[in-house]
Amino acid sequence: MFPAAKHFIHDPTHLVTTALLSIPRTNPSVQCDIENKIIYRKNGASQVSIVSGGGSGHEPSFASFVGAGLLSGAVAGTIFASPSAEQVRRCILHRVNKEKGVLVVVMNYTGDVLNFGMAVEKARAAGIEVDMVVVGDDAGVGRAKGGKVGRRGIAGTVLVQKIAGALAAKGASLKDVTRIAQLVADNTVSIGSSLSHVHVPGRREPEEDELKEGEVEIGMGIHNEAGSERKSTDLPGLVKTMLSHCLSTADQDRSFSKITEKDEVVLLVNNLGGVSPLELGGITNEVVEQLSETHKMRPVRVLSGTFMTSLNGLGFSISLLRVADTGLGSSMLELLDAPAEASGWSAAISSGTWAKQGEVKKQEEQTDGEEIQPSNLRVEPALAKSTLVTALNRLISVEPDVTKYDTIVGDGDCGIGLKRGAESILKMLETAKDTDDLLIFLNHIIQVVEVSMDGTSGAIYAIFLNALAHGLRQNSPTSPQPVTPGIWAKALDSSLKALGKYTPAKPGDRTLMDALYPFVETLSKTESIDEAARAAQEGAQGTKGMKASLGRTVYVGGEGFQEVPDPGAHGLAELLLGLSDGMKK
Ligand SMILES: *[C@@H]1O[C@H](CO)[C@@H](O)[C@H](O)[C@H]1NC(C)=O
Repeated sequence: MFPAAKHFIHDPTHLVTTALLSIPRTNPSVQCDIENKIIYRKNGASQVSIVSGGGSGHEPSFASFVGAGLLSGAVAGTIFASPSAEQVRRCILHRVNKEKGVLVVVMNYTGDVLNFGMAVEKARAAGIEVDMVVVGDDAGVGRAKGGKVGRRGIAGTVLVQKIAGALAAKGASLKDVTRIAQLVADNTVSIGSSLSHVHVPGRREPEEDELKEGEVEIGMGIHNEAGSERKSTDLPGLVKTMLSHCLSTADQDRSFSKITEKDEVVLLVNNLGGVSPLELGGITNEVVEQLSETHKMRPVRVLSGTFMTSLNGLGFSISLLRVADTGLGSSMLELLDAPAEASGWSAAISSGTWAKQGEVKKQEEQTDGEEIQPSNLRVEPALAKSTLVTALNRLISVEPDVTKYDTIVGDGDCGIGLKRGAESILKMLETAKDTDDLLIFLNHIIQVVEVSMDGTSGAIYAIFLNALAHGLRQNSPTSPQPVTPGIWAKALDSSLKALGKYTPAKPGDRTLMDALYPFVETLSKTESIDEAARAAQEGAQGTKGMKASLGRTVYVGGEGFQEVPDPGAHGLAELLLGLSDGMKK
């Protein structure tokens, strides 16, 4: 099967129609002419109108860019196909304010240029002042290979629209808006790359064209167009090539831009639709670092997000705009930063905030945690340390078992989480100052647990230990005294109660509570850590065959829960057995 051919909406006509109908629902300032697939501003302001559009499948371009400060109207075609000249003509003549003239901005694709061009001619014939700017920012394919096809328009187009839209909103003339749109277009260079072709709903693509595992197509267009090469490379290698295609002046075949390190540049890192926002963040960081290290460029603006997609394309594009003088009262940056009331425009940072780029807030002096109040509970420092070391090493040594059990009944990360916590405490013990104050000792451990362990078990350990510290303090004697099993038992009991406020887990739920409860109960009864640890072990073993009713095990728990104990309970029991062993030494 062709990759990513799963969809919620399979009929391409229905898909495009419903997506357009959704736009006025999210932005009441715009309206939809569904017959002609036009999205337009309800109260077309008295300003130069900006009209754009093209095939569908590039959302939020362009329909979601309609709104105050950006586009006045957008005309959509079917997926990856230009709208007809008639659709565009109707938009210019009947859907936008044409008193002060209309600027049409399109990307350099044959169909778009012809259809929008024809509509422009017709509108002019009807006596309307109309200009057209064609954007060809793509540096993906060099001149030789590009041949007659010329440079295509990709994500850099949105910079042209945004800046022109903001200028028009300020009341500039058609002549100025057109000139600035062209200036932005002339100073913008972009390149895309993708790990896969996209599947167009309702269409069958040839499979032999698909990229192999690990291969990336450098320069891929926004309609699955071939780029300049396919290769296997990592992200840094990919970004290096992409930036070089955009910036190198040595490359005779390209050398499209004249951006130098002296220029102010705007960077736009655009999601082609299928990259997770998390991954796009990592990509953006890589691009900014390479711009700085390799090209000595520090962008004055960084826009990262989803602006022009290729359906759910598993790729991204980089656009660079050289900030040029507009010769007007408003600079390109100011116009770019200006807010726009369009649901698809996601760049939220204001000029004032950008101006403070590089400033750092004075950090408050980092302290090594909060001051811990001393207590009267005394421990033998060497013994406390060696006991804990024995216990932690025992916990670390059973990590493979815990992991194995958790792979069967959980998501496999329990063992590693416990091991990471244990190792961090061991590391802390190497450097921490010896203390005979139990609460100071315990608080050192708590601080490590809180930062080194995450997930549910990390939170449970942290809450339990904090409550234990509180319980110990409450049961603290009035003069310095060694801590007794009786004090431990009371404090443990109150920390169990505290834990109950945050988790409903009780023995029988197949969690670490099955080891913790018997431990605390037995310790209260017998005041013997040895017996208490063995009770914990029995409790953990008793979870074999229990059905989980809480925690992630409920969702992922598969076959095999009869054979293995709950991994969290097993880990805790081993830790407690280790404590008991350590005290005997
Ligand atoms: C658009 O493509 C044509 C060829 O189809 C090319 O001649 C032209 O230079 C391109 N325009 C831009 C703005 O890149």
